[in-house]
Amino acid sequence: MEPSKEYVFKYKGFYFGVITTLEHVASLENFEINDSDIFIATYPKSGTVWTQNILALIMSEGHRNGTENMEMMDRIPWLEYNIKNADFATLPSPRIFATHLPYYLVPRDMRNKKGRIIYVTRNPKDVMVSYYHFSKFMNTVERIPDFNIFMERFLSGKVLASSWMDHVAGWYSHAEDFNILFLTYEEMKKDLRSAVLKICSFLGKKLSEEEVDSVVRQATFENMRKDPRANYENLPEELAEKNKGKFLRKGTVGDWKNIMTVAQSERFDKVLEERMKTLPIKFVWDIN
Ligand code: A3P
Repeated sequence: MEPSKEYVFKYKGFYFGVITTLEHVASLENFEINDSDIFIATYPKSGTVWTQNILALIMSEGHRNGTENMEMMDRIPWLEYNIKNADFATLPSPRIFATHLPYYLVPRDMRNKKGRIIYVTRNPKDVMVSYYHFSKFMNTVERIPDFNIFMERFLSGKVLASSWMDHVAGWYSHAEDFNILFLTYEEMKKDLRSAVLKICSFLGKKLSEEEVDSVVRQATFENMRKDPRANYENLPEELAEKNKGKFLRKGTVGDWKNIMTVAQSERFDKVLEERMKTLPIKFVWDIN
């Protein structure tokens, strides 16, 4: 079944949420990139907000430097969902954007290795479960209460942001075209400090030990959950019914085991197996 037009539209084979416009997403291919620009690229529910928060902290040396009163969406806007109509051209440098775009729809300059991209991926089963819960409180995401039906929609890419497999396979197999750092949610969870250091080194940002400690401390699930800005608690009611769920829900690895049956998990593996064989990397999702 196709996703409802009430929630998404398709542009060049990719499902966008209706909170953006076709004109805007089409214009992004010509969007001019500066060498100093930084992009967080993800499939939804892979740790985008977490990485946004980490980057906001790293770029201001472990403190917010006056940005603590700024909403994350203003500090690190969404490239394709510019809901506040920010003037991207006048954002202070280095500009940081978050995006769910597939590799083939990003600004052309990025393919000439302009700007830096941090691509975060996560066990697709946890992504799917997180997405399922997310759809219960986000008014911008189609609600599919039956988990089995949701899973089939997810596996066939009939959801906002289309297919997880296409997204990940696309970015990984075109890695050489971009200036890109790949991270997984699981490695961030296992050793956040090392992930922060990897990001610093990729961005050429030198922080002191204390500053790194401060980033790591503030980017833990518990501390981010207490911060209404990191947890996107100030989103307008028309976007989210906050009494029904939170952006920072559980923040664990392997939550899929609490909801998926053995049969569902096997079906999921079977669908993914064929496709993932062609990838240049083998993912290990278990962190122990
Ligand atoms: P769960 O729903 O499994 O809890 P995104 O930002 O891409 O939408 O991803 C959201 C997922 O990242 C949610 O997963 C959320 O809890 C998790 N997350 C956000 N901040 C986190 C943190 N500091 N540590 C661990 N997980 C985090």
